[in-house]
Amino acid sequence: MSFIQLSQLTKAFKNAETPAVNQIDLKIEKGEIITLLGPSGCGKTTTLRMLAGFEQPTSGSIYIGDRVVYDDRTYIPPEKRGIGMVFQDYALFPHLTIEKNIMFGLNKWSTRAKKERAKEVLELVGLDGYGKRYPNELSGGQQQRVALARALAPRPHVVLMDEPFSNLDAGLRERMRYDVTTILRKADKTAIIVTHDQKDAFAVSDRVVVMNEGIIQQIASPREMYRCPKNCFVAQFVGKTNLLTGTLCSDMKHVDTYIGRVSLPEQSQFPVEDVRISIRPEGCRLAENGMYSGRVERVTYGGEYQEVEVRLGDQNVSSQPMVVYAPIEQEIEVGSVISFDITPELVALVEA
Ligand SMILES: Nc1ncnc2c1ncn2[C@@H]1O[C@H](COP(=O)(O)OP(=O)(O)OP(=O)(O)O)[C@@H](O)[C@H]1O
Ligand SMILES: [Mg+2]
Repeated sequence: MSFIQLSQLTKAFKNAETPAVNQIDLKIEKGEIITLLGPSGCGKTTTLRMLAGFEQPTSGSIYIGDRVVYDDRTYIPPEKRGIGMVFQDYALFPHLTIEKNIMFGLNKWSTRAKKERAKEVLELVGLDGYGKRYPNELSGGQQQRVALARALAPRPHVVLMDEPFSNLDAGLRERMRYDVTTILRKADKTAIIVTHDQKDAFAVSDRVVVMNEGIIQQIASPREMYRCPKNCFVAQFVGKTNLLTGTLCSDMKHVDTYIGRVSLPEQSQFPVEDVRISIRPEGCRLAENGMYSGRVERVTYGGEYQEVEVRLGDQNVSSQPMVVYAPIEQEIEVGSVISFDITPELVALVEA
């Protein structure tokens, strides 16, 4: 049995047309870092709150460790679930020192043990010596590390973090992605992190759970999610992509589309002829005499690459230009014709 197991977990709020979380099944192994990724309102926070015990599910069950913490006969309260929670706004008490903030969750411990533990977790998050300061005397990133230290202090089995990076600027965000995962790994914790940012999700997690409208769309490692998105929603939500409809050839390894024949990385397992494919912009490599060519409609300088919109094939058929990434050193003029090849490894058959 997995360390954490959600089975058919559902939350239907009163007066809502559809459930906020709809029969989700999810198994998480000990020591894994998982992210829940999805657009606003897809049910990420609700899932996290049900796990923590702050929200009562409508149906389903939750196991943590080898213990049922929720099912139709059981409800274990939050403080008995062995969970440490880091809230989006960190929720530090402004009138308490950092040390007291951390000691707050250790109410049954002796004062000495509390102090020792506070020192220990502050060391773990790299804030040794900050115990006597107040939250407003710390930077955003430091406050976040305090929130994590406070969550870790009672030695929880599981750490839950809701949008831990959303209050941080771009540079700090990158730094904190690294710090948070390093700290979680060092403390050997199982963690579930909620985010709506794909880069956050990919940078911090072993596996990503993509949700939409209360339903899990796909569970996969970042690499697999990017290369083999299961359906159109995942393909578009996780990075940029070109979605094309086409007909599967009889060899099951090629698809005929309006831009021409596209090779698949492997034989299709789809039992249908009419298919959809996702082609990542990075999979389109500019090449002289490439297999595909079209007229450039727009070039956007992205810093690391240029995003080029190319119009291919019969203009009446193609409603949208293809997006292709080109190296920044290459001069590309709007109106010129470019040609490229497509790397099959960045092509995937997707469900509607
Ligand atoms: N207490 C509540 N009462 C009624 N509806 C709620 C309640 N909490 C959440 N919802 C609804 O449930 C759905 C899922 O909300 P949830 O907060 O889980 O989304 P989320 O994925 O965390 O979104 P965000 O990225 O914006 O934080 C939304 O439609 C929301 O309006
Ligand atoms: Mg939320």
